[in-house]
Amino acid sequence: MHQDPATGAWMVYRYADVVAASSDHGTYSSELWRAYPGEWGKGDTWGEGRLTEMDPPRHRLLRALISKAFTNRTVSGLVPEIEATVERLLDAVDGRPEIDLARDLADPLPVMVIAELIGLPFEDRELLRGWADRLLSFEAGELAGEELVTAIDQAGAELMAYLREHLRLRRADPKDDLFSRLATAEVEGERLTDEAVVNLGKLLLIGGHVTTACSLGSLAFELLGDPDALRAVRQDADLIPAAVEESVRYRPAVVNSLRLTTRDTELGGVPIPAGQFVSLSAISANHDERQFEAPERFDIHRRHNQHVGFGQGVHYCLGAPLARTEIRIALAALLRRYPVLERTDGPLQYYRNPSIAGLRSFPVAVSRG
Ligand code: HEM
Repeated sequence: MHQDPATGAWMVYRYADVVAASSDHGTYSSELWRAYPGEWGKGDTWGEGRLTEMDPPRHRLLRALISKAFTNRTVSGLVPEIEATVERLLDAVDGRPEIDLARDLADPLPVMVIAELIGLPFEDRELLRGWADRLLSFEAGELAGEELVTAIDQAGAELMAYLREHLRLRRADPKDDLFSRLATAEVEGERLTDEAVVNLGKLLLIGGHVTTACSLGSLAFELLGDPDALRAVRQDADLIPAAVEESVRYRPAVVNSLRLTTRDTELGGVPIPAGQFVSLSAISANHDERQFEAPERFDIHRRHNQHVGFGQGVHYCLGAPLARTEIRIALAALLRRYPVLERTDGPLQYYRNPSIAGLRSFPVAVSRG
């Protein structure tokens, strides 16, 4: 652990310390806006649906509401749609000797799946991808300063307006989709406000997109660099879930999570005062040799893989079952379709956001044999 002289944040690297802090939400708060009371003070209402920026007990209430609408059954119900979407995306580039695994498959897939989950019309999916891209436009490095802030604000406002209109339609005419269920779900007699449902929709679109895309890309990248592992998953598809898990350990898409200390405390023997930012490094924790044997080895047969790639504690990733399902289906379809899948010498592009690890462009040579 050390305090970063540039930002003042406490950087936490060991597995045991990351787990301890993530599990103690009383001391390590997710309500980061408290550090800026004037600016973000509005975050103090659970009705706004800002799940990731909320501590219990309000977090518990909201999470229970979402969990009622976003169950394992919801995920299993999406399987046929995920399979069809993967096939459609691969059909679109069929016949090419080289595909971009990130741009052609990993990036569009999660947006389409979340759109289906929320119940957005099929024909609006390109629109959604556009917003998701623009919200991440800082990645492209094309804009900076005020221009960038305006572009992101505008994309965010358009997306919110779109989701508000969609919610209005669903309230008038409920269907069997997440928005309809969120609109009517009740916990302890409480219902979500429109603003909360819309914010949750945005959170799912943003939180479930790049994370899943990066994880699928990372898994493919590791497998194509490891002929034994690739052969093993080709021969036995039952190994795929463990390979997915290992890649989330090995290269977690969300590199670190931030917390704010609510009181003077101590972590790994180091005192930390109240009101300090603490950065919990998932990527370091997942490579801690005190927890994982040979952590630098990508090992699809690894046992006891209690990684923190999906977080830990009350904010544990709500979309983990969906992400696992999407990645498993996409990989299985790739392996089925292409007996030949190889890395090329083409340039790799990574996300430039320091909290996100993954490929934005990943050229792969393919052949149907
Ligand atoms: C492999 C892909 C994914 C990774 C690596 C990932 C990672 C994470 C991590 C590390 C957290 C905890 C953040 C924290 O503690 O501050 C988190 C939370 C969350 N994730 Fe994911 N995620 C993935 C996919 C998804 C998907 C597909 C969805 C939904 C469609 C989703 C929705 C959420 C939500 C709603 C939360 C907040 C939970 C809460 O605050 O209680 N994630 N995710």
